Amino acid sequence: MSGDKFMADPSDGMDAMIVGGWSQQKHERLTDYIVASRLSRAKWGHACYIDVFCGPGRVVERGTNTFRDGGAIAAWRASCMGNGRPFTAMYIGDLHQQSVRICELRLERLGASVQSFFGPAKETVHEIVSELPRGLDLAFLDPFNAAHLDFEIIRVLSERRFMDILVHFSVMDIQRNIDLEAATSGSRLERIAPGWREAVDLRHLPKSAFVNAFLEHWKSLVLSHTQMTAAEMMPLIKNSKNGPLYRLILLRRHPLAEKLWNDVGKEDKKQKSLF
Ligand SMILES: C[S@@+](CC[C@H](N)C(=O)[O-])C[C@H]1O[C@@H](n2cnc3c(N)ncnc32)[C@H](O)[C@@H]1O
Repeated sequence: MSGDKFMADPSDGMDAMIVGGWSQQKHERLTDYIVASRLSRAKWGHACYIDVFCGPGRVVERGTNTFRDGGAIAAWRASCMGNGRPFTAMYIGDLHQQSVRICELRLERLGASVQSFFGPAKETVHEIVSELPRGLDLAFLDPFNAAHLDFEIIRVLSERRFMDILVHFSVMDIQRNIDLEAATSGSRLERIAPGWREAVDLRHLPKSAFVNAFLEHWKSLVLSHTQMTAAEMMPLIKNSKNGPLYRLILLRRHPLAEKLWNDVGKEDKKQKSLF
């Protein structure tokens, strides 16, 4: 199946997704948080990982051809580290059926208990939440672009009381689309943050403030609809030309999650190693 999106991984012959080098910081912060929160998980009978944009579980960096673990595999391995208790189940889904199959196989080979789902995240999330046992859960929302970050996904996940949600929030997509969307009836940004046109008046803002105003509206929607709060640290991941790509945002209810993430998510922590 290899092509312009995938390349065969020599370690197992299955596809790895071709990605930019900056995705390493995303995976490092995800795994750092999983390691940092291991003692909290150990207190629960069930602790599940949910990834509705899972990809095949391995990635290869464009340009360097370096193969690494993608989100779900990296998350599983991180949960097995030290004195942590591994995730009791990995709930994975993707629009691309073959990616889910490969990710499932890779996780099972590593000893994980896996539940797989195919289809758009805004649909699979309903099936997943209805099957989750009571426990402490972590969801990773890692879409290719912000338009897939349907607010419904967050709303449904938030029905679980003990859930942290780590969100890949593409500021680049918002920046690129917000002007046009404001001037038309486009629904791209409306799906992410319903009601944004009424809440964010671009006419009174400099262009440089558009994305932050949109983000503030999204955070207030999250709070009012889910009672979840965005942790203070929202590291901004940039590309090799220092252009802003996305923020990693942890939505949480428990103050300990905030404390752990604020340490893991410190702005200066990983950027320096790349540039
Ligand atoms: C950025 S990649 C995910 C990478 C993966 N989380 C990782 O860390 O290795 C985004 C994934 O979302 C999938 N996708 C695209 N649109 C989707 C949708 N509406 N619902 C679910 N998955 C979707 C793509 O097939 C792709 O595998």
